[in-house]
Amino acid sequence: MKKIFTLLAALLVCASAFAQKWEGLAQTPQMGWNSWNKFGCDINEQLIKQTADKMQELGLADYGYVYLNLDDCWHGSRDKSGFITEDENTFPSGMRALTDYIHSKGLKAGIYSDAGVQTCACRPGSLGHEYQDALVYANWGFDYLKYDWCFTTDVNPKGAYRVMRDALRAAGRPILFSMCEWGSNQPWEWAAEIGHSWRTTGDICASFNDVQHYDDLGNPTWKAQGVLSIIDQNEPLRKYAGPGHWNDPDMLEVGNGMTVAEDRAHFTMWCMMAAPLLLGNDLNTMTPETFAIITNRDVIAIDQDPLGIQGFRTAKNVGGVEYWFKPLEGGDWAFCILNRSDSDQKVTVNWKKFCLDDEISGRSTGFDKIVYDMKNLWDAKAKPATTKRNLKVTVGTHDVAVYRLTPAGEK
Ligand code: GLA
Repeated sequence: MKKIFTLLAALLVCASAFAQKWEGLAQTPQMGWNSWNKFGCDINEQLIKQTADKMQELGLADYGYVYLNLDDCWHGSRDKSGFITEDENTFPSGMRALTDYIHSKGLKAGIYSDAGVQTCACRPGSLGHEYQDALVYANWGFDYLKYDWCFTTDVNPKGAYRVMRDALRAAGRPILFSMCEWGSNQPWEWAAEIGHSWRTTGDICASFNDVQHYDDLGNPTWKAQGVLSIIDQNEPLRKYAGPGHWNDPDMLEVGNGMTVAEDRAHFTMWCMMAAPLLLGNDLNTMTPETFAIITNRDVIAIDQDPLGIQGFRTAKNVGGVEYWFKPLEGGDWAFCILNRSDSDQKVTVNWKKFCLDDEISGRSTGFDKIVYDMKNLWDAKAKPATTKRNLKVTVGTHDVAVYRLTPAGEK
């Protein structure tokens, strides 16, 4: 008998040592739409179906936005056996019908839960029901799970996220695992083998440079962070990100109330940081300016570059202006000037001052030896230019100028 127990224990240890997340997903940062930033708890199947229709009509999947994700508040209660059900009032046709609809539009479907007893909006959490929940999501046909961190007193973060990873694996359907514990337990240090992305910050709000306190969830110490505050928190974590495991500085607020320049800067900086690109606006009332921002293929290509190297800044906030680089495939670089200040800034870039070696990618800009062709990614009318000459440009307040540099030959 003792031998059998020892054998079983050994098998269990081996099984958990070999448990893996679903590999091959999120080889580039995931892209899609999520209900939370605009609609919060006010979601229902009509909204989700309309959003699916709109994503198809606008061809968003062709730009890379394939996931249509429900956030908090889709839940009903648990049945007698502990299986979770959908809210019958807001999702009367059921989740299987909804994912069928989403899939019929050429999209993938995402769902949301929480590692604690309740979700952040006080719906049932997954604690103690992880394997049941993963099975239900797989049976319903979901392809993506965002897993939050509210109501987790005494829950071990690494353990909790591992349990759900293993449950998803055991359920048998490839499901992208998006961890959302806000960076509270430094997930970048331990989560690459668990999730496909992990939040690095608290919640974003549609503001460029504010930090807003909010206590509507009974947590007055919580702050919603603006774009700049999030960038500053996410930037130092670049060495932890790569294909299949991304730093997630939260979902996009493009189209939710910032100025067009701020939206453009926000979107560009998320691309410079190889962040997941999850739209958070109302697609049905989107302005042409918002559409133009989220569908700029050249800027999206920076985010989706196959090397998957997060960009970095060279100097912090010199007179409100920052210079960012991101190594891209084929010897290219993305180069971005971010103007954090409250006034327009005239900038002269002397390339030689940016001869730098990036330890993480092992790449050098080599401006003293290499000449690059420059493509201005937001200004299609800009004259062709190279790095032979200094770059002179005015960057508007709370805006960016971003270029793709391609080696054109030796100096
Ligand atoms: C947390 C998450 C948000 C959102 C809400 C839902 O605050 O960080 O992204 O999912 O919960 O309640």
